[in-house]
Amino acid sequence: MPNRITSFDEYKREYQRSVENPEAFWAAKADAFQWKQKWDKVLEWNFTEPDVKWFLNGKLNITENCLDRHLKDKGDQQAIIWEPNNPDEKFRTLTYKELHAEVCRFANVLKNNGAKKGDRICIYMPMVPELAIAVLACARIGAIHSVVFGGFSFQSLADRIHDASCSLVITADGGFRGAKDIALKSIVDEALLQCDSVKKVIVLKRTNTAVIMKPDRDLWWHDEIQKVNDDCAAEVMDSEDELFILYTSGSTGKPKGVVHSSGGYMVYTAYTFENVFQYNQGDVYWCTADIGWVTGHSYLVYGPLLCGATTLMFEGIPTFPDAGRFWNVIDKHKVNIFYTAPTAIRSLEAMGLDFVKPYKLNSLRVLGTVGEPINEEAWQWYHKNIGKEKCPIVDTWWQTETGGIMISPLAGITKTKPSFATLPLPGIQPVLVDEKGNEIVGNNVEGRLCIKFPWPAIIRTTYGNHQRCFENYFSQFKNLYFTGDGCRRDEDGYYRITGRVDDVIKVSGHLLGTAEIENAINEHPDIVESAVVGFPHDIKGWGIYAFVIPEHQRSDTDQLKKEIIETVSKYMGAIAKPDKIQIVKGLPKTRSGKIMRRILRKIAEGEMSNLGDTSTLLDPSVVEEIKTGAIK
Ligand code: WT7
Repeated sequence: MPNRITSFDEYKREYQRSVENPEAFWAAKADAFQWKQKWDKVLEWNFTEPDVKWFLNGKLNITENCLDRHLKDKGDQQAIIWEPNNPDEKFRTLTYKELHAEVCRFANVLKNNGAKKGDRICIYMPMVPELAIAVLACARIGAIHSVVFGGFSFQSLADRIHDASCSLVITADGGFRGAKDIALKSIVDEALLQCDSVKKVIVLKRTNTAVIMKPDRDLWWHDEIQKVNDDCAAEVMDSEDELFILYTSGSTGKPKGVVHSSGGYMVYTAYTFENVFQYNQGDVYWCTADIGWVTGHSYLVYGPLLCGATTLMFEGIPTFPDAGRFWNVIDKHKVNIFYTAPTAIRSLEAMGLDFVKPYKLNSLRVLGTVGEPINEEAWQWYHKNIGKEKCPIVDTWWQTETGGIMISPLAGITKTKPSFATLPLPGIQPVLVDEKGNEIVGNNVEGRLCIKFPWPAIIRTTYGNHQRCFENYFSQFKNLYFTGDGCRRDEDGYYRITGRVDDVIKVSGHLLGTAEIENAINEHPDIVESAVVGFPHDIKGWGIYAFVIPEHQRSDTDQLKKEIIETVSKYMGAIAKPDKIQIVKGLPKTRSGKIMRRILRKIAEGEMSNLGDTSTLLDPSVVEEIKTGAIK
C-alpha cells in the first residue's frame, strides 16, 4: 500500500516531511482515494475563528471510497464479520459486494422517506450490521448522521435529537446486551415527546420486544426495504461538507455536537488505521468499541472499510456468557488485530486467568488500547497473557474532536513503553504549555497538551454554535488547539497522557460531564442541589462521587440513594450512575456562589488533611460536615 510506513527510520522521515511541508505531505496521501473532482488547494486555516478547510473544492463521497472502490478486487472478501451477543446465535458476514448492496438499498429507503443531503439523522441502535449500514447509507445520500450510544437514556437522546433538529430517527425494537434486553424503541418514544422535528422513525426488528408503532411516523425497516432496489448513486459531497455529528460531554450540562467533514476525515482515518495497526490485507481486525463512540466511527467503520479491511463487529459485552468471551471470539474468528479499552482489560484481569487459559489466542499479531490512560499493571497483563509477549501494544491517544489517532506507536515499528502513547503520528505537532500558555520546551517536562497545526480530521465546529467551538478548544491558548488533557514528555521525548484537567471525567473510558450528571440527579424531586466529582477507581479508571442536598431530611437514606441511582439511569443512562452518594446539608461555595470542586475532589479522593485554601468560602463549616460523612 502506498501510504504505509514500514520502519522507524521511515517514520522519522515521514514525520519530518509532514512538518516541513504539510500540504504536500497530505496531498500525497489524499491522492490514493477516489475523488469525483480534485481539490484545488490543500489547506486554508486559522485557529482564531477557528476556520480550517482541507482539500478545498475537492468532491467525493466517502462511501464510494469505502465500498465501490473495492468491488472489483475485493467484492467477495468479507467486509464485516458480525458476532452476536448470544454465542448460540449464528454469526453473520457481509462481503464488500453485499455491504455495498445493503447500503444502497437502505439509502433508497431514506430517500423514499424524504431524507436528503444536509438533513440530520439520528441513529440509536444496538451493535448489529444494520447500524453500520445505516451510518453508511446516510453518508451515501449526504445526510449527516448523529449516532447516539444505545446506553444513553431518553433525556440524553432527546437533547441530542433536539440540538441537531433531526428529521428522522433510525432505531430498533430493542437491543441485547449480555443477559439484558434494552427496549430502545420505547426510549425513543419517550424522547420524541420533546422533539417535534422528527417526522419519521425507522425501526429494525431485533429482539421481538413489543413496540407501539405510531401511525404515519413509525415504519418497519423490513417493510421499507422491500420497496427499493440496490441502485443508489452516491451524492456528490464537497470535502468540507459535514459528514457527521457526534456528541461529547463538556464542562457545561449541554453536550457538544462535534462536527466532522468528509474529505479530511476520510484521508486521516484511513492513513492512521493503516499505519498504527499495520494492517495487512486479509487480516481480521476487531475493535470492541460501540459505534456510538468516535472509536467505532473511525476504527470500526470508516478507517477499516476505507482500507478494504475485514472488520469484526461484536454485539455483546466482555463478560457474557462469561469473562472469556473476548478470547473466545478471537479464536473463533482468528482475529489478528485487537483494539479495546483499558477498563475492559482491567475488569477481565480481575476475573482471573481461568477465563483466558482455554484459548489459544495464536492468531493475534497486534494489540491496541484507547480511551483512557492504561496503567502499567494492566499493560503488562495484556502483553503477557493476551499478546503472549509477542504482540506490540499500540496505546492510542486521541479524542472525539481529533477524529483519528494522534499520538501512538506504529505497531511493531515504534519502541513501546508501558503507559506511554509514545510519539505523534506524522502531521501532528503537539506542544506542552503552562497555565499561561507559555510553551514548555525540552524533555522531562509536564504541561497541558495542545496541538499547534491542523490535521485533516480536526473538529470543524460544534453544531449550531461555532462560538462554543472556539471557546472550548481555541480560546485558552492563542493559536493552539487545547485538548483538555495533562501530559508528560519524558527524557526520550515520549508522551504520556496523565488525564483530564477540566470538569469532565473518564468513567470506564466514557467521557461524562459532571454537570450533565448533576442535572440528571436533580431530576429527583427530593434533591435541591448536587455536585459530582471523580475519584480514582481500580477498574473504571475514575468513579463517580455525588454530593447531594435533599430538600428535607429523609430517614430512609438507603432508599433515597437507590432512587437517585434509578433517576440517573432513567434520564441519562446506566453509564452515569454514581458509585458513591453522600448526603450533605450544604456544598462548599465561594461568596459568588460557585461550588469549589477542588475541595470536593480532594475529599472524594480521601485526601482530607490537605484541602488547600478554604478562606474564600462562604461557610467553611460545611467542609467539616462533608469530611466527617465522606464515603470511603
Ligand atoms: C479523552 C477523549 C480516543 C477516542 C475515544 C475517546 C482520553 C483517550 C487515551 C490514551 C490516555 C486517553 C483523554 C482524551 N484518552 N485515549 N491512549 N491515553 N488518555 O474519545 O470520549 O472524546 O475522550 O480520552 O483524556 O482527552 P473521547
